[in-house]
Amino acid sequence: MTLAATLTLKTDSSRRDQTVELVQITDLHLLADPQGLLLGVSTDDTAREVFKFAQSKDWPPDLVLLTGDLAQEPLPETYRRLNELLRSLKTPCVCLPGNHDDPSTMSEQLRGDNVRCLSRVLTDHWQIICLNTSLPEKEGGHVSEESLSQLETLLDEQPDRFALIGIHHPPVSVGCSWLDTMIVDNGDKLLELVRSRPQSRAIVCGHIHQALHLRDRGLEIFGTPSTCFQFMPDSEKFALDELGPGYRRLSLFPDGRIESEVYRLPGKPRGLDQSAAGY
Ligand SMILES: [Fe+2]
Repeated sequence: MTLAATLTLKTDSSRRDQTVELVQITDLHLLADPQGLLLGVSTDDTAREVFKFAQSKDWPPDLVLLTGDLAQEPLPETYRRLNELLRSLKTPCVCLPGNHDDPSTMSEQLRGDNVRCLSRVLTDHWQIICLNTSLPEKEGGHVSEESLSQLETLLDEQPDRFALIGIHHPPVSVGCSWLDTMIVDNGDKLLELVRSRPQSRAIVCGHIHQALHLRDRGLEIFGTPSTCFQFMPDSEKFALDELGPGYRRLSLFPDGRIESEVYRLPGKPRGLDQSAAGY
């Protein structure tokens, strides 16, 4: 990911209040073969269905934020196919990596007029900061000293813009014992830094394949359904939920307020293998 590469966004001028409309899409788990199946599910089909569904509702947003695990097989051809899909949306798309991604292949392939892997997006009233919490060959998350110091710099550069931080792994326990072994292992440090800057408003993550909304001391933490299969909330072991694939929409208001909603396709994904013990 390029250090502090920045996209400056002009929000839709027809919206007089300059609210930023953001769509979060996460955990696509795309395979190299577009016909391939993961846990019985065509992740290519479900990702396309979720994008189509999102496009049927108040489209386009100001920004589409993709929060990692974009590929299950992080090969150039997987990302090239996603790049074509994102370019066809004709709206700004910013991508950050998850534990299944290859950050360098991803940033080489995900590029186009409207598609980028970068560190931040600036709008009139908000700064959206993207952090890489993935570690090579590891499922769990970590924020490096370099990323923490970059986050501190970016926050201090923009004290008058409200901040939303996008990451893949959640910085707190989510109530699933097996997933809680893979959260950001220095989440306390990340939260301490974020909370120390009064403009910070929210952290938005992927990884957990379920909806989550926590509010603590002025900071909101959002987790979002995957575009493919979902994990059962409050489960000790790996377990699949029957809820449909989905995405999150966030409205970032000029006064720092956030409204957010999760949207899901009806029904479980076709072919879902409920007997799977992992993925
Ligand atoms: Fe995932």
